[in-house]
Amino acid sequence: MIERIRLVIATTNPNKLREIREVLAEDHPVELGSLSDVPPIAEPEETGETFEENARLKAFYYARHVAQARGPRVLTVAEDSGLIVDALGGEPGVRSARFVRPEATYAERFAEIYRRLAARPAEPRTARFICALAVVGDGALLFEATGRIEGEISDAPRGNAGFGYDPIFNYPPFGRSLAEVTDAEKLRVAHRGHAFRKLGEWLSSQPA
Ligand code: IMP
Repeated sequence: MIERIRLVIATTNPNKLREIREVLAEDHPVELGSLSDVPPIAEPEETGETFEENARLKAFYYARHVAQARGPRVLTVAEDSGLIVDALGGEPGVRSARFVRPEATYAERFAEIYRRLAARPAEPRTARFICALAVVGDGALLFEATGRIEGEISDAPRGNAGFGYDPIFNYPPFGRSLAEVTDAEKLRVAHRGHAFRKLGEWLSSQPA
């Protein structure tokens, strides 16, 4: 019998989990689990200065826990992502989930971004989302990938789909924000879709 690769997606963010499951559901020889399949564990501190560092840090941290609960052959994938606004010197960046303060609402975060952009009217509104992922198995880093989507901060929040900063991120080829399109449309062009499709290709290329 062919043994399928077993992979735990180590994210506590249900929106990310939904998107990742949707991408990896596309016909890859893999059995997908999540953190709800292992005993609860505290989140690690995200001390990295880049998305890649944080993705690796999270993957190694959760992989130790997954190995204890499910054995060393189960792979763990973690991702780190966020929004980079050029006129704000790259903020909120790796601090996207904590921007303004950890428990701030997205309305407060949007207001802070617009307040700071208003002080820099001549600067471009260009921005991008980045997603870095890392896969750890048996204590080793097995695969890494990064995906991105280029766009601009819109003049006002629009749409109710998606999550996080999607309402203020305008994607010019759509002429709409990422919160004004379906999950499937977003995943086709956005950072997480690109990074996890690369993971899907890698999984498909692994010997059974
Ligand atoms: P992380 O859990 O440290 O990776 O934080 C990622 C944060 O970046 C999220 O909580 C959102 O605020 C933001 N972010 C990442 N990806 C997206 C996206 O696809 N849409 C909107 N916001 C996102």
